[in-house]
Amino acid sequence: MTTLLFHSDLDDFTTWKEAIERTAPSITVRSTQDAGALEAVTAALVWAPPPGLLRRFPNLKVVINLGAGADSLLRDPTIPPSLPIVRLTDRALIDTVADYVLLYALALHRRQPELAAAQRAQQWTFLPPTPTAMTRIGVMGLGAIGGETARRLAAQGFKVMGWARRPREMTGVECFHGLAPPDLFLTQSDILVNLLPATAQTENLIDSPLLGRLKPGAALINVGRGSAIVEADLLAALDMGHLRHAVLDVFRTEPLPDSHAFWTHPRITLTPHNAGLCHPELSAGFVADVIARSLGGEALPSCVDRIAGY
Ligand code: GLV
Repeated sequence: MTTLLFHSDLDDFTTWKEAIERTAPSITVRSTQDAGALEAVTAALVWAPPPGLLRRFPNLKVVINLGAGADSLLRDPTIPPSLPIVRLTDRALIDTVADYVLLYALALHRRQPELAAAQRAQQWTFLPPTPTAMTRIGVMGLGAIGGETARRLAAQGFKVMGWARRPREMTGVECFHGLAPPDLFLTQSDILVNLLPATAQTENLIDSPLLGRLKPGAALINVGRGSAIVEADLLAALDMGHLRHAVLDVFRTEPLPDSHAFWTHPRITLTPHNAGLCHPELSAGFVADVIARSLGGEALPSCVDRIAGY
């Protein structure tokens, strides 16, 4: 028998517990409030636990991050670098984020924010629709989620470019690589999509110089992390009209503070970090496999690279 600690403010404990215990009867899943003997806990499945929480479990062998971006765990100085962190990026998470980007890419392409504003003002404003092939989308980050998102946008008929640090080959997606997004990628993007993890390299990536290289009237979708955006620079680009609209799902501070300018900005659509979520039925097997491997001293899949920072 092994004990798995579960902690998430977003995901349902009972559904996860039932799915994992049904898949692997040798695992007992316990919540933070009812963790039992702390020494018995050898694995943790967590989303954004309070800093210091995991330090209470002296026999922890592996932490599974209930999502793609493990930045909240990497910010916790009490988690030793030797403790493996595995990222959970299941089919549900990939599909839900890709759907989110497709939804808002189509909305931006069809000028839905401008049409909604015209309706509110009771103005009959005809904005000519154009085919998706006339809109070029630049996707930053081509990992499991970014790659599927780029494929889906291309399947919808958009012209799609992707940028990643390492070279990629993708049918239907023009791929760029390198340490920084190249000019050709930025200057051609009608819609820029950020799907990058929070790292030292992506911190403040979307600043005035980068935004200034986008086409006048370009739009932004951020589903990576809020730390990629210099907020004052984004507001300035929106206020000048250089950027037509921004769709934001992730923020530097979450929940977004009540007084934040983003809430009421006419050129911002925001959602409460709900672009995607893992699903217990799809992930229970992976979680059980990671725990078995960890107990058997085997190599773990999807481990966070502490040097790369994701
Ligand atoms: C969500 O933000 C995730 O990292 O999975």
